[in-house]
Amino acid sequence: MSVDIESPSAGPPGFANADNLRQRARSVGMNPDYWYAVEEVRRINPGTVTEVVFWKQSIALFRSEDGSFHAVENRCLHRQIKLSLGEVEGCRLVCGYHGWEYDEDGRVAEIPDLFGRKEVPRLSVRSYPVQVRYGLVWIFPGDPAKATERQIPEIPELEGPGRWACVPLRFDLSAHHSIIIDNVSDFSHAYLHRQYRPFDGATLTRHETIGDDVHLAYETRVGRGRISGKFVDHNRLNTNHMELCYEYPYQRSNTDDEIKHWLFVLPIDERTTRTFFLFYFRSLKLPMLPIRIPRWAMTTVLRLANRMLIGPLLSQDRWAVEAEQTGYEKNWEAPPIEVNPVVRSFQQVTVRKWQEYLDRDAAATSIDA
Ligand code: FES
Ligand SMILES: [Fe+2]
Repeated sequence: MSVDIESPSAGPPGFANADNLRQRARSVGMNPDYWYAVEEVRRINPGTVTEVVFWKQSIALFRSEDGSFHAVENRCLHRQIKLSLGEVEGCRLVCGYHGWEYDEDGRVAEIPDLFGRKEVPRLSVRSYPVQVRYGLVWIFPGDPAKATERQIPEIPELEGPGRWACVPLRFDLSAHHSIIIDNVSDFSHAYLHRQYRPFDGATLTRHETIGDDVHLAYETRVGRGRISGKFVDHNRLNTNHMELCYEYPYQRSNTDDEIKHWLFVLPIDERTTRTFFLFYFRSLKLPMLPIRIPRWAMTTVLRLANRMLIGPLLSQDRWAVEAEQTGYEKNWEAPPIEVNPVVRSFQQVTVRKWQEYLDRDAAATSIDA
């Protein structure tokens, strides 16, 4: 009897040893000098702490009892246990082991037993700039001096009194962020969605990289599927033209100024990415009826649409990107074969931005040395 034992594989190469663009794209992190969405506001109650990760850096995100958010390096300076295992008391994060208290800026503010010392030693963990916008908590994991010059993307439709309804969707995916970016803007995967048909017969009409942005446009029939077609008022709307942009490190689309979305990715490690999808619609109609949904009811209807339409659709993408990750880890040596030219452009930008970050970091290290 023969037993089939797979020879142990070294696995995909890291960035320094990558041989081709695909291997490089699948190994890189994201440039930390941007704002990254890390969690939905509604998931963190005042007085609680949670762990979030930006490219292998663990961060304790805590919410003071006054409702404000703070982010600090996730390790207690005493014995290095995760501060996210502790508790929030008032506006302090308290380590779960010996009760050292950290203030909102990561300074050790209190040590329960100082063994006769008069003062708490001056110690602090790194803290990160935090903002709240569009129902999401954002962290700036890079050089804090750049946090004010870089901006969270402006989405005027989601702010102010006339804002469009939007209910964010969060997924933790077992796939590298570059696989997800390749998926969302490459419409050659209509076959995957043959059941829902969110876009049909897509023809690429624009493909251009300008700086750090890859611009695309497709002529495609949007929202004509069995379920999506029920929410879109086709008598009024002509949803045939979709513009997309990989606006590093974010991704967005606009269909005839009627249906828009943003995707914010949080790179966690080589095979894990958190994603936040914000879909928003100028208007929707009630399924089965020729009635436009009033603005006040849009949020409820969007929850329904997320459950009936967008969630199931994105679950198909989840299946595909996770299967691609598994396939890549097994067959990373296979020659990359790609038909849609936009994929190469996404990967080039992703790799270039990582290289820029590494070069900057190396330059900073040599100045410090
Ligand atoms: S390990 Fe945190 S207080 Fe001791
Ligand atoms: Fe898809």
